[in-house]
Amino acid sequence: MKNILFVASEGVPFIKTGGLADVVGSLPKCINREYYDVRVILPKYMCIKPEMKEKMEYVTHFYMDFHWKNEYVGVLKAEVDGVKYYFIDNEMFFGGYGPYSNDALYEIEKFAFFSKAALSILPLINFRPDIIHCHDWQTGLIPVYLKERFQGNEFFRGIKSIMTIHNLKFQGKWSVKEVKEITGLPDYFFTSDKLESFKDANLLKGGIVYADAITTVSQTYAEEIKTEFYGEHLEGLLRAREHDLRGIVNGIDYDDFNPEKDKHIPFPYNAINFRKEKFKNKKALQQELGLEVDEKKMMIGIVSRLTDQKGFDLIAYIMDELCQDDVQIVVLGTGEERYENMFRHFDWKYNNKVSANIYYSEELSHKIYAASDAFLMPSLFEPCGLSQLMALRYGTVPIVRETGGLKDTVEPYNEFESKGTGFSFLNYNAHEMLRTIRYAERIYYDKKREWNKIIDRDMAADFSWKRSADRYTEMYDWLIG
Ligand code: ADP
Ligand code: GLC
Repeated sequence: MKNILFVASEGVPFIKTGGLADVVGSLPKCINREYYDVRVILPKYMCIKPEMKEKMEYVTHFYMDFHWKNEYVGVLKAEVDGVKYYFIDNEMFFGGYGPYSNDALYEIEKFAFFSKAALSILPLINFRPDIIHCHDWQTGLIPVYLKERFQGNEFFRGIKSIMTIHNLKFQGKWSVKEVKEITGLPDYFFTSDKLESFKDANLLKGGIVYADAITTVSQTYAEEIKTEFYGEHLEGLLRAREHDLRGIVNGIDYDDFNPEKDKHIPFPYNAINFRKEKFKNKKALQQELGLEVDEKKMMIGIVSRLTDQKGFDLIAYIMDELCQDDVQIVVLGTGEERYENMFRHFDWKYNNKVSANIYYSEELSHKIYAASDAFLMPSLFEPCGLSQLMALRYGTVPIVRETGGLKDTVEPYNEFESKGTGFSFLNYNAHEMLRTIRYAERIYYDKKREWNKIIDRDMAADFSWKRSADRYTEMYDWLIG
């Protein structure tokens, strides 16, 4: 039996702000249990829903040296779908209204604490991983600590680490002086070949330098981040480590996202009966959101964090023009205020055509995936993207920009060969996007049979975890030797 430990800042079904949580919650379930014992460590945030907190059981607690103090570390555990989870408890760090705050320094302190605590609890829970699989900057210190202070302890010697980059944009950066104090790491680590980057300390960089292997969540993004445009100033390092860097595309949980069994949608359907059933979800949602009820109207869905990453400046630019077309636009998302207000404005201006839902709702997201005809995701960059995979699963045709995982998972429609699963454009240009949307509109309104064949191909595509989980286990085996 090989022991694998995931450490991450969020994971379904406990806490989620984006795709990272979906991955951390679904991948461990899909790794062959006969050969691998996969466990997960998460923070015990106060904002975790009470019904999930109820599943947790106290294990132990102790005090850990951290940043000149002696900090309380509580350990809890829970088991969900056969996966063992452990939680690090400390109300000072994990007591906020959400998992993250806007105070960058505090975030660094919080996740430095989390990273050190995650390693420190291992002897106490009697689990010695062969590999610690770290996710994003919040866990970047783990590979560093593993090679540093924990080396002195027999228990930790020989443990390998993997750093998975879900989003290179976020790196955990702050002044060297303060990060040195917080982490307790000596000067040796703060040079430009280690944690230092452009005069600051950079936690993700530490993870990339010290991990035994590096992965990211699609093959195209793995190539893109070696270039200046996508590299977020780490392209040089990523090129230097390219032999240890691989792209493994994400999957989604095919049980949680299943139009045939989804409890959130009023009219279940499948790949065979969608022609007769799927549109009933559209009518129900039109009614619920106060849009014109018309089963023939093309509905374009958006479910997303409202940030620059996702291409909302392109959408803002052509929204007025797009609203002249015979379409409805349904948005669910939260994020930057200017985009929240942009959608509120168009909802007011085109009231029976646009529905802006500026909040977070699992339930409404499923309804949108099921009800929409097309799903719009024109990202500036996209490490993988899960929303387009959810759309495909629900027979909702993705319209995407050809970048990162979007490029790897959506095959552009080709009307001459009757191939493809969605519509895509290359350049980050609002009118190129609008042209692509209008091309999709033409197929939808004028070539309905063709459109339905695209849906056939969407629902036949397989983005469950199976294949990618095998690629992770191949990597685990290769590292363990
Ligand atoms: P990212 O991780 O960059 O935000 P992904 O496409 O990988 O993008 O994953 C986003 C996940 O978050 C999807 O599961 C999507 O359905 C969900 N999501 C985003 N915004 C909301 C929201 N407002 N309400 C419900 N789910 C949301
Ligand atoms: C990040 C990326 C997204 C990816 C997700 C899960 O949040 O922005 O593209 O799908 O992580 O890997």
